[in-house]
Amino acid sequence: MSVYKKNEDQIDSLMTADQNKEMFNDIAPYYDGANHILSVGLDHLWRREAVKRLDPKEDHVYLDVGCGTGDITLEILRQNKASRVIGIDTSLGMLGIGWKKIRQYGLESQASFREGNCLCLEFPDNSFDGAITVFCIRNVTDRKKAFSEMVRVLKPGSMLVVMELTEPMGLVMKPLFRIYASTVMPLVTKIMSSVSAYKYLAASMETFPKPENMKQIMTDSGLTNVAYSQMTFGIVTVYVGLKDIITKTP
Ligand SMILES: C[S@@+](CC[C@H](N)C(=O)[O-])C[C@H]1O[C@@H](n2cnc3c(N)ncnc32)[C@H](O)[C@@H]1O
Repeated sequence: MSVYKKNEDQIDSLMTADQNKEMFNDIAPYYDGANHILSVGLDHLWRREAVKRLDPKEDHVYLDVGCGTGDITLEILRQNKASRVIGIDTSLGMLGIGWKKIRQYGLESQASFREGNCLCLEFPDNSFDGAITVFCIRNVTDRKKAFSEMVRVLKPGSMLVVMELTEPMGLVMKPLFRIYASTVMPLVTKIMSSVSAYKYLAASMETFPKPENMKQIMTDSGLTNVAYSQMTFGIVTVYVGLKDIITKTP
């Protein structure tokens, strides 16, 4: 959209990293509520499906990239309470809400959140048994770099799950969605928080790569066996990819 002017650091995103951080800090108190209303409650179902792909296991450690207010981390622990999760996010406002939930559910020994940027992860190579990023990659200034970092910190053979909102296609759903995005979304968000944040949401969905392109970006970033499936008329797409098992030559 023309209102978003790119600078040279923004290869992929409509906002700079600083603008994005500011936006999420501003909307943090309203984020969960707005999400549930705008998705008519489907966001829980989408997150459950994303985490099912990860298939969390006992004693395995997972990285939740762009963990926000922590709902993916909670869902991982709901699906396997003997796993562990580290969440990272650039927005302290979002992380603060996440921390409250972790304390509320008494999950401090299984989950921890920290400030971090997926373009430069502060973890050693081959650290995690799996990674997941849900509704985050749309906001990241360089997707290929972010995926390459996620691949670096994954153990060989482990999985990355990516979930993103996408603009639905088709003669019926595409126009219906555009009407929804230009009327219902701003109305709900005017009441709840920031209209500009959700105008950004609609614009970033419109400009986000189509699933086949995303599949290519993930493959170019070092993932193998990349596959995707669409949910809810194509409003949400979930991608999975594996870090190759590297066979060392003697
Ligand atoms: C739409 S929220 C999604 C939060 C959460 N995953 C969920 O399922 O609700 C996107 C999150 O990505 C974070 N984010 C954006 N750019 C990031 C980056 N470069 N590194 C880490 N987190 C980032 C934002 O701060 C925000 O909390």
